Amino acid sequence: VRNVSSLSTGTRFKSIILKPCGCYFSTSSQRSSDFYTDPTEAVKDIPDGATILVGGFGLCGIPENLINSLLKTGVKGLTAVSNNAGVDNFGLGLLLQTKQIKRMISSYVGENVEFERQYLSGELEVELTPQGTLAERIRAGGAGIPAFFTATGYGTLIQEGGSPIKYNKDGSIAIASEKRQVQEFNGRQYIMEKAITGDFALIKAWKADRAGNIVFRKTARNFNQPMCKAAKTTIVEVEEVVDVGTFAAEDIHIPSIYVQRVFQGDSYEKRIEVELKKVQEQQPKPKKDSDIVRERIIRRAALEFEDGMYANLGIGIPMLASNFIKPDITVHLQSENGILGLGPYPTEDAVDADLINAGKETVTVLPGAAYFSSDESFAMIRGGHINLTMLGAMQVSKYGDLANWMIPGKMVKGMGGAMDLVASAGTKVVVTMEHSAKGGKHKILDKCSLPLTGKQCVDRIITEKAVFDVDKTKGLTLIEVWEGLTPDDIKACTGTHFEVSPKLRPMQQI
Ligand SMILES: *[C@@H]1O[C@H](CO)[C@@H](O)[C@H](O)[C@H]1NC(C)=O
Repeated sequence: VRNVSSLSTGTRFKSIILKPCGCYFSTSSQRSSDFYTDPTEAVKDIPDGATILVGGFGLCGIPENLINSLLKTGVKGLTAVSNNAGVDNFGLGLLLQTKQIKRMISSYVGENVEFERQYLSGELEVELTPQGTLAERIRAGGAGIPAFFTATGYGTLIQEGGSPIKYNKDGSIAIASEKRQVQEFNGRQYIMEKAITGDFALIKAWKADRAGNIVFRKTARNFNQPMCKAAKTTIVEVEEVVDVGTFAAEDIHIPSIYVQRVFQGDSYEKRIEVELKKVQEQQPKPKKDSDIVRERIIRRAALEFEDGMYANLGIGIPMLASNFIKPDITVHLQSENGILGLGPYPTEDAVDADLINAGKETVTVLPGAAYFSSDESFAMIRGGHINLTMLGAMQVSKYGDLANWMIPGKMVKGMGGAMDLVASAGTKVVVTMEHSAKGGKHKILDKCSLPLTGKQCVDRIITEKAVFDVDKTKGLTLIEVWEGLTPDDIKACTGTHFEVSPKLRPMQQI
């Protein structure tokens, strides 16, 4: 027996002994991580008004047992930092129903009806934060960086402030978001974002070893990884506790120094948010007029892919375009919840709740794929390593301003990762959308009337009628038009002026 390492962390002291058998165990009664058998014991000291960081993306990688335990302790007035809030009757949605949460700091409200209702009716405070900014604010919090600058959100409500955090009953704004400081670096405008730390982090991981080291599984890593590091007390629930040495030291995702409490859950529901059946119904099988319009946009959008590209695709038309990628080229698809090398939808028997895309659909990955955390994913995006972003829009202006996340007072889906994706310098931004809204209302305009997702960020617009190139200062140029339509027809259904390319051609289809 020899002492191979000793580690002092403030008042804690831990020593690890290598036994002749080669296995490690902890000799200290006060280990860096404490192991619990009852999840309620692990969370019972979380006080009213605490800030909790809750891991997960959609329902993937959420700390099910720890959330359920908070229902039992009845703690109130929580500020919950979490990308989203589960669904109405699972995950954080449960704590919304019991009104235990006072404020959510999230990027996405999405399909959680109760979340949207409580926010719009003034019962809940919501700080909507772009997904990449949220991940980096948490990462910075754990790394001791009080604030940082990002291009994400410049020229939007995030920078301008005044965005509703809390509504009054009459729909006026009770609490508004703060304006951000702007600073120019190398000729580009950036906004200052502050770090986030929590009193407690509630984490779901795959396995912990008895020393408290953690590994995650597939896309269940997401926000869990940065959140482990950003709280005073990190509580991790795992599916399995294994002996030290079971996973190699170089394969550990979270070293034990960040982990104060571990709990092994005995049952995991791992509910799947978007059923495979619904996904399959989304596949294009043209019947109705709207299907024909969609397929036309999809078959044009697919021509944007080039060999070797890294691309991030929004849910719906952009994602469907990937079905038409020519077999002789390779496109690497990135999903912002933590995949590079996204594959097709799974067969029924290959569905895995720990493997979803950013639309919460179960997916597969291709050989050579990689999984990573949300902060890593947005470093990839913000850092300009993605060649192409394709996404939908509610409105686009002639200089490429984009609006796709909110209709004030009516609909808040949240910006998710869209603000980060379109703010990335060096990434081509292609918008796919129907040319006009219901009732013929223009979507391509002089100026967007809805809150912006990004300013002067769109490079190309593809609709069922036309393709435009967007110049950030000169405006729109019509480069393709659907067969049988003329530039005058397009003028009649477009809410702003555009130039017509001398090389105007019929709309291309794959
Ligand atoms: C993708 O972007 C990288 C730089 O980030 C560049 O080197 C590469 O050529 C681009 N690939 C394609 C196919 O556009």
